[in-house]
Amino acid sequence: MSILGYVKYWDDESEEFIFKWHMNLKDKKILITGASKGIGRATAIAFAKEGCSVAINFKSDAKAAKEVLDECNQYSKGNVLLRANVSDEKEVSEMCKKVKREFSHLDILINNAGIFDENDNPTNVQAFENVFRNNFLSAVMVTKHSLPLMQEGKIVNISSIHGRLGHGRPTAAAYSAFKAALENWTKNLAKDLAPKILVNAIAPGRVATSMWGNPNTKEQKELGQVHLIKRMIQSEEIANAIVFLAKNDAVCGEVLTIDGGMSLVTLG
Ligand SMILES: NC(=O)c1ccc[n+]([C@@H]2O[C@H](COP(=O)([O-])OP(=O)(O)OC[C@H]3O[C@@H](n4cnc5c(N)ncnc54)[C@H](OP(=O)(O)O)[C@@H]3O)[C@@H](O)[C@H]2O)c1
Repeated sequence: MSILGYVKYWDDESEEFIFKWHMNLKDKKILITGASKGIGRATAIAFAKEGCSVAINFKSDAKAAKEVLDECNQYSKGNVLLRANVSDEKEVSEMCKKVKREFSHLDILINNAGIFDENDNPTNVQAFENVFRNNFLSAVMVTKHSLPLMQEGKIVNISSIHGRLGHGRPTAAAYSAFKAALENWTKNLAKDLAPKILVNAIAPGRVATSMWGNPNTKEQKELGQVHLIKRMIQSEEIANAIVFLAKNDAVCGEVLTIDGGMSLVTLG
């Protein structure tokens, strides 16, 4: 039963009805990897608007990250910047120690950081290793070091439609393979951590970010032709869905496709 964002359900463990405000994220503590730009940036701002304290991770662009921090500070308190390369476990461990010092615990983790390797092809071993570390192992390592800080809450992994469809394209062979791995891992993690922590993923189509070279309006129109919506997806549209998953207490182990209808186009 749910009235005005209030959810009531029977809990076997405590043998009583639980009443929960499932719509309220105010004062929740959230870590977002790769939040200096693109989807991570929009997500940081969206959660700050909900009243969360946001830990904004970035790797190299300190200026962009500071701008995200300044914008988040307009909406909520306790936001922090955390520089760390999430493909390096030592740096991940240090980052999570800082999260503990700043927040004492975590409610929400968004594994968003990711790269596209220009040398990606079906047999480029170096590209496979690079993409594996940055797009898959990074999420495993950040989760490993964040879980001791999480009693309950939500984890959202940012996958891709190329992992979803299972075929991607030859110039994104490693990228597609490890996004598919991320989806599979999402489901196993969901089984392992429910009911205390709910784990889900989002599989976006083409989102207008620096991953596509920050396309201008004309380029966005062209790149968006692969979608039924005939435009690129905006980072804020992915961020809204991440907020939805953070608020919802019934979605578990799901991969939410937000691809503007791209996967239907190929089906004719
Ligand atoms: N754009 C799309 O069309 C699209 C589609 C499907 C899925 N995705 C996925 O969505 C996620 C975000 O993509 P985006 O398009 O927003 O990318 P983006 O605009 O290129 O931003 C990438 C962010 O990740 C950070 N980052 C990269 N490697 C990192 C590392 N090793 N450690 C810490 N931070 C790191 C970057 O930090 P610095 O800039 O500070 O180095 C930046 O903040 C990725 O997982 C991507 O695969 C994107």
